[in-house]
Amino acid sequence: MASPVPPHGGNLSAEARRLGCDPQRLLDASASLVPFQPPRSLRRALAQAIRGSALRDYPDRSQSELRLALAAHHGIDPDALLAGNGAAELFTWAARDAAAAGSNILPQPGFADYARALHCWRGATEAMRLPLAWSDAWPQPFPHHSDFASGLSSGRCLWITNPHNPTGQLWDRASLARLLPHYALVICDEAFLPLVPEGEAHSLVPWVRDYPNLVVIRSLTKLFAIAGLRLGYVVAHPDRLQRWKEWRDPWSVNGLAMAAGAAVMGDRSGLERWMARVHGWVQREEPWLRAQLNQLPGLTARPSSVNFLLIEGCASLLTIRDGLARRGVLLRDCRSFEGLGERWLRVGLQSHANNRRIVRALRQELERQSLV
Ligand SMILES: Cc1ncc(COP(=O)(O)O)c(C=O)c1O
Repeated sequence: MASPVPPHGGNLSAEARRLGCDPQRLLDASASLVPFQPPRSLRRALAQAIRGSALRDYPDRSQSELRLALAAHHGIDPDALLAGNGAAELFTWAARDAAAAGSNILPQPGFADYARALHCWRGATEAMRLPLAWSDAWPQPFPHHSDFASGLSSGRCLWITNPHNPTGQLWDRASLARLLPHYALVICDEAFLPLVPEGEAHSLVPWVRDYPNLVVIRSLTKLFAIAGLRLGYVVAHPDRLQRWKEWRDPWSVNGLAMAAGAAVMGDRSGLERWMARVHGWVQREEPWLRAQLNQLPGLTARPSSVNFLLIEGCASLLTIRDGLARRGVLLRDCRSFEGLGERWLRVGLQSHANNRRIVRALRQELERQSLV
């Protein structure tokens, strides 16, 4: 029986079990996290929290310290901000509002978790097809849905991912801001935006004050390589967040994640250095890896503004993906992205040495399979 298509990347333990190997042996490029150790301030705060009482005590439900640090970082009112157990938890609450507000437009191919969240509340969805070709000039205008031009958007919700997953396109803020007056609700997922060089200039966070129908969701799991710790936040109108607080369970964000987040976001100069390091890495490795992949027979790597890129094959890439996994390299199976299929894989940028390993493994696997 064919194994089910996973809706996410980053299934390291399950893949290791399937392959019968130690997870440590695998290079997981199916999830897109920065490849560095989390910042020192974050690790120090975690160690301190463990030595203190963060394991024993219930977490601070008001999230005061973390919210203050995040609000100061964005220059916004702390009441317009709420932390979550990763961005994923916050999609669930955004979806509850969205399901009540109207039909939900989901740009496709797109991140599958929005549909999961909407399904919880029986929210209606409509796919909006994105063109599968784009240039490497960033930012790009967000393609408008046909209902926008025809004035049918007012009873609908629009889910935007900036930069888009899986394509890596950075949407231009002005093109997004023009949409805000026309939809019942706009949910903008900026999970990867801090990783994009000059990306913050395209954040919709500053627009939240003027648009109560705007919800911006951010993640810290990719930026600081803490997907296992879980931490994200939402910026939205305080009344909306008050409702979400009443719905969610009382201690959604654990004390360790809050201590780590407050420390790293409160360390302004450390954060600047971290951002410079991350942006330098994306600026070097994305063009390098793309150029290398484009030299391999039968593959086209698409341009990306961020730390993952899509590869299109001229035929199915599933056996290539399997062969790579046996060589210890995991790439993202794209069949769960509506509109993509077996010919597509997504690769998360790694350190330079590991990007070389990916290219080498792909070359060997392509050569091996063309000989069979
Ligand atoms: C576009 C996008 N948003 C959000 C998330 C989830 O972020 P978090 O780990 O903070 O839940 C992912 C995870 O892959 C993602 O790809």
